[in-house]
Amino acid sequence: MISAIQAAPLPQPHSKSWSAAQSHALEVLTEQLTLSTEQLDMLANEFVRQMRTGLAVSDTSDLAMIPTYVTGRPNGTERGCYLALDLGGTNLRVCLITLKGGHELETQQRMFKVSQELQEAEVSKLMEFIALSIKDFLARDHINATLVEHASDSDRLEMGFTFSFPVSQTAIDAGMLLRWTKGFSCAGAVGHDIVHLLQTALDQNDVKVHVAALVNDTVGTLLAHAYTYPNTCLGAIFGTGTNGAYLENTKNVPKLKTTAQEMVINIEWGNFDKDKTVLPVTIYDNKVDRESINPGLQVFEKMISGMYLGEITRNVLLHLIDQRLLFDGKSSTVLNRQWGLEAATMSAIEDDKSPNLIPTSQILESALDIGLHTLADREIVQRVCHLVGQRAARLSAMATAAVIRQGLSGSTGGDSSGILREYRHVLRAGGDESRVQDSTEALVEPIHVGIDGSVFEHYPGFRAAMNQTLEELLGPAAARVVRLETTKDGSGVGAALAALMAHKDAMAARK
Ligand code: BGC
Repeated sequence: MISAIQAAPLPQPHSKSWSAAQSHALEVLTEQLTLSTEQLDMLANEFVRQMRTGLAVSDTSDLAMIPTYVTGRPNGTERGCYLALDLGGTNLRVCLITLKGGHELETQQRMFKVSQELQEAEVSKLMEFIALSIKDFLARDHINATLVEHASDSDRLEMGFTFSFPVSQTAIDAGMLLRWTKGFSCAGAVGHDIVHLLQTALDQNDVKVHVAALVNDTVGTLLAHAYTYPNTCLGAIFGTGTNGAYLENTKNVPKLKTTAQEMVINIEWGNFDKDKTVLPVTIYDNKVDRESINPGLQVFEKMISGMYLGEITRNVLLHLIDQRLLFDGKSSTVLNRQWGLEAATMSAIEDDKSPNLIPTSQILESALDIGLHTLADREIVQRVCHLVGQRAARLSAMATAAVIRQGLSGSTGGDSSGILREYRHVLRAGGDESRVQDSTEALVEPIHVGIDGSVFEHYPGFRAAMNQTLEELLGPAAARVVRLETTKDGSGVGAALAALMAHKDAMAARK
């Protein structure tokens, strides 16, 4: 089945300036970090299998497959003015979003820094900080409910909250934190309703805001992208963390009792294969995982996302240093320190296309305090960054392809009811390929994938590697049919759209 798929060429690990031992070490690393089409195809099939297990019964799969109670997609005609709150990493953003219809909108926003101390504080402290930040935003920008045009009959502003952590939702405005990720560890939050915690802090601090909707950033990205491109099937994040949310036919979600026909599902794909049974983890990945604050969890995220790429690379470089194959066996205090190498530094190194890698030389000195190095050293560092970055891009595309495959076949039983079924004649669904006509030039509406996150946006070659891998896994038509696009401010706009949808439903229910 796979033989028809063109495999990506293995990057050539040799350079004239390397010793035989350096070339050999790089050959081994290339072997360990390069994923073939066959491996990715197998991973995508396993990913679909874990998706279906998670859709069938709660708590049976590494993929939580969380129903979000968002039961449709916007189409760009929505209008209204809503507050949006975005918490997912080191920044908290408060926005006022004016949806103008006709796919147009306006945003007003302020950022607040969430200190390391707050990320590890008691959750009431974090919530109080959020409430006071909103209060500050409203006061400084003179915003109150009377100025804001929406169909509310109260004096409170309606707000959507994008909370980018795994939450088990019971309604659009209620959800319990399953676990912290990305370095957060506030006590008193896991197992508690995040909306309740925030609403309490808002009320205690006399902030006239009502939390109308709670969404994951991937859900926000999906909704925001659909506001511009209604045929958006997946919202994904490739940033500090990684995850995806997609629209599923509820017939394929046996664990959910609902009358809605479709619902957005938050996959929480960062936790894919947490027991490392199929993912080709290396000793470097295991080290990153073991030394993280959540060992044995989010293993896929730790191979892909911006928070960990530098850490994997740092471990590889230290291993080479310890064999005296790099920097003449000498490290630096920065490079020896956990989190000492950032993904942004890797990006800058990969960006260097000069023959003698002089910019890389400056980066090694300024970011890593490595003053003495040869051209061979710089080439090796660049090669390692490339291998780690490419692997992340190919794994990211694998998850994307798996979600599209689920949409193509989409059945947990015998009934094919995936929402992308009409694309089955042009895209490979894995398994039975006989229906796919790769040569079909049929004009089909593109499938849009909305993506947010610094890795996708800024890491050199990431998007190109994802596109190439999608073609390998879904067939040549993927280049024409599947559009990977950057979503601008998915978390803010998506939260506002979710608040609008929730508010409308609540008003309708009251009538
Ligand atoms: C979280 C997800 C989130 C993703 C991207 C992961 O660590 O578990 O909920 O969507 O990061 O921000």
